[in-house]
Amino acid sequence: MSESLRVEDRGAFVLATLDRPEKRNAIDQDLVDVLHALCARLEVERRTLVIAGSGGTFAAGADIAQLRERRATDALKGINTRCFQRIRALPMPVIAVLDGYALGGGAELAYAADIRIGTPSLKIGNPETGLGIIAAAGATWRLKEIVGDALASEMLLTGRILGADEALAAGLVSTIVESHAALEHAATIADRIATLDPAATQATKRALLAPASAHPEIELAEQAVLFESPEKQRRMTEFLERRGARRATEESR
Ligand code: COA
Repeated sequence: MSESLRVEDRGAFVLATLDRPEKRNAIDQDLVDVLHALCARLEVERRTLVIAGSGGTFAAGADIAQLRERRATDALKGINTRCFQRIRALPMPVIAVLDGYALGGGAELAYAADIRIGTPSLKIGNPETGLGIIAAAGATWRLKEIVGDALASEMLLTGRILGADEALAAGLVSTIVESHAALEHAATIADRIATLDPAATQATKRALLAPASAHPEIELAEQAVLFESPEKQRRMTEFLERRGARRATEESR
């Protein structure tokens, strides 16, 4: 696909590894382009995506060398914003494995994931104002949703970087796993998701992503479709028949 993004088929999921370790996986235009190409594929294939970084770093931000050259028209294009929005809107879950630095645009890519796993070396935050810009690829609204207004405002207005323990306490990651075991943990989560009904998983994600004004109608509409699905019938019948068979065995004892 590209030298800066390794994409591997891992059965239950697709693993995408940001692979510019010599630049701490800084997100440049090339990476944005290949992430868009990956999204185009996953919008059709509908697979769980695991995003990780190579070399003990998730991503140290957007590429500052490129950012320095960008002007107002580039800002208005939302180069990283559109890419991370597309990742966020992928039909199946996105899991981010956050090892080491997840800064600036790297943190915003992580905020776009549905599930975030940290490692003890995690350092996450948004130092953009120190570079004379704002965190414009999702942090100002998404971080608030994840950790609440108080901590999000403090992080964005002071550029303070959180370590693993604080990120866990704030709910910015759902768990901390040793670096060597983090990918395996993500694979376990993806395997678990693969046992569930993909249509129900995708409907749940759509409801989770919907704005407050869309509730509860969106849940009801999604449920109406699922209530008619043969897969719901099959799964519920299987459950009830299993219980029935167990009861019959118990009663015959
Ligand atoms: N954009 C472009 N290049 C970056 C980068 C970024 N966001 N982050 C790191 N790099 C490059 C460095 O310029 C350096 O390149 P060089 O070897 O050609 O000089 C290389 O990656 C290694 O970086 P270095 O700073 O030497 O690594 P480190 O391990 O000492 O420090 C960081 C790691 C992440 C603390 C440090 O690189 C850093 O502060 N990066 C910028 C973080 C940031 O402000 N991100 C927000 C951007 S919106």
